[in-house]
This record gives sequence, structure tokens and C-alpha cells, in this order.
Amino acid sequence: MRRKIVAGNWKMNMTPSQAVALIEELKPLVVSEDVDVVFCVPAIDIIPAVEACKGTNIHIGAENMYFEEKGAFTGEIAPDMLTDAGVEYVILGHSERREYFAETNETVNKKVLKAFEHGLTPIICCGESLTQREQGITIDWIRQQIKIAFLNVTADQAAKAVIAYEPIWAIGTGKVATTEQAEEVCAAIRQCIKELYGSDTAEAIRIQYGGSVSAASAPELFAQPDIDGGLVGGASLKKDFGAIVNYK
Ligand code: 13P
Repeated sequence: MRRKIVAGNWKMNMTPSQAVALIEELKPLVVSEDVDVVFCVPAIDIIPAVEACKGTNIHIGAENMYFEEKGAFTGEIAPDMLTDAGVEYVILGHSERREYFAETNETVNKKVLKAFEHGLTPIICCGESLTQREQGITIDWIRQQIKIAFLNVTADQAAKAVIAYEPIWAIGTGKVATTEQAEEVCAAIRQCIKELYGSDTAEAIRIQYGGSVSAASAPELFAQPDIDGGLVGGASLKKDFGAIVNYK
């Protein structure tokens, strides 16, 4: 039985002091025995967030990471800067990074390999645009994103990865995918992993849905056989996140 994982993606929100205040507010609300809870926070909030989450069930994630060890890459964050600070997860290939910061399937793959090398769990994002959905190429597109993201990733590593299916048209729009749409794609992702690695890996890997997840939509989404939790944007900055974690 896969353990659910609910992660908040704070995006470019919260100063360090606001981050600590939000964590203090959410701490008692996100207590859960059976869900892994992750707060993915802006780089500058990582150190105070790790400190504020000590002794709780909250794990800290980063929102991005570079694929080199160190050196002349102004403005980038190296994997061991994250691990040394207490980070356990890292979001890679979010559609906003692909759209505004020119990330490609290939750079996402390099980052995924580097994350595993450092013992970080990648939350690998994929998702189609509205045009792609309307043209009926959603599954083809997602399979391509997944196959390239997992190039040279071993079966043992893949089993530990988290994939977040986030239809771009559902992000920040309040337009959540229907349960059927979300389950259809998450099942197709699991099938793709099965083709690449076999059934054991496909059964182990965790697949989240993301895109306007709310306290109202979470219970039905998370009850789907191939949806193992959510990657939550806007609602992760509010008390609602507690209700999303405790969706049952
Ligand atoms: P919203 O929940 O705000 O739609 O954002 C989803 C998202 O992009 C999470 O990574």
C-alpha cells in the first residue's frame, strides 16, 4: 500500500519571517499518522523553515535545484546546499520553471539524476497545456516528459521518486481537473513507469495530482487508485492545507 504524500508548493511567496509565522499556524493542523507532509519553500526560507519544523511531522522541500555540484553558476543552488540545510525533497520541472526559466525535459533529467545522487527525493512535474488537451495529445506528451525525465534513472531510484501530474490549465485557475481526467492521466503515468521498470516499481512510485487542489476537491481526488496525494499551490498558504492533509 502506497503512503499518501501531500506537498505544498509555496512558489514565490513568504519572506523568512512570514514563513515561520505560517508554519507555526499550520503545524497543529497538518499532523497526520498516514500522510507524508512536505512544505516546499523558497530557497531563502529553507533554513528558518527547517528550524521551525523540528520535532514535527513536516518535511522540507526546495522548489528547484541546479544539476552541477558547485562553481560559477550565479544565483543557482547546489544539491548539497539543500541536503546540508536539512532539505529532503525537491520539486523539479514545474511548468512555471519550464515556461519562464527555459527548463526542458533534458535539464529536468539532469536534475533528477543529481537529486538521487545526493539522496534527495525529486517531485518530478509533468503536465499538458489546454491546447495539447484539446488536440488529444495529453497522454503522448506526458509519456514523453516522463520517459526523458527518467533517462538513466535506476529502478530502485524510480521507486522512490514522486511524480506530480499538473495540467497547466488547472494551475492557479480554480479550474480543477475532473476526478476522471486526473485519474486517467495518473494511471497512464503508472503504466509508462511499468513499461520502463516493471510492475514492482510502478506499484511503489507515488503520483500526485496538482492544479487548484482545495479542501473540497482533495477527498475525491486522493481516493482514486492511482492518485497518491497532491501538490498544492495556493491552498498550501492557508489553513485549508490542514484540511487537505487530513482529507479523509
Ligand atoms: P495551485 O494549487 O495554486 O493551482 O498550484 C498548483 C501548483 O502549481 C503546485 O505546484
